[in-house]
Amino acid sequence: MYSDEAHLRFNTLKDSRGNLIALEAMKNIPINIQRVYYIWGLNKEPRGFHAHRITKQVLICIQGSLELLFDDGKGMKKNIHLSSPSEGVFIDTWLWHEMHNFSDNCILVVLASHQYDESDYIRSYDKFLKEVQKRSV
Ligand code: TYD
Repeated sequence: MYSDEAHLRFNTLKDSRGNLIALEAMKNIPINIQRVYYIWGLNKEPRGFHAHRITKQVLICIQGSLELLFDDGKGMKKNIHLSSPSEGVFIDTWLWHEMHNFSDNCILVVLASHQYDESDYIRSYDKFLKEVQKRSV
């Protein structure tokens, strides 16, 4: 499910030297972090286009900006513009997500609840819709 609580705001510790944000599992990050990956050097090509059955994630745009599109397969679609390292988005299971409109020098950090497992991915939108429908009967 997506809800507005999924849009996380992190406290920035500022002093004369600059800014610092600390991320802690099950405190300001609602998952037990098992994996961290980062994405950079992006061209304009969109990414994502999948959903997860088990893995929950938090995506943070630490530099630049992008549009994140969510779709729960039941009619809820949401577009979020991310442009600040002090914001994150919780990506729950069973949410189709796409990343679009990367700015130059965009850098994404993703925190994930599980280690990488390709069998946890649903990469076909039709399959995603079918699995969501099956789950809700
Ligand atoms: P991909 O899922 O296509 O990235 P995106 O969600 O941004 O579209 O991942 C790119 C490649 O990296 C793909 O071959 C799977 C691999 N990969 C890993 O090996 N480990 C990981 O943790 C992730 C996220 C991807």
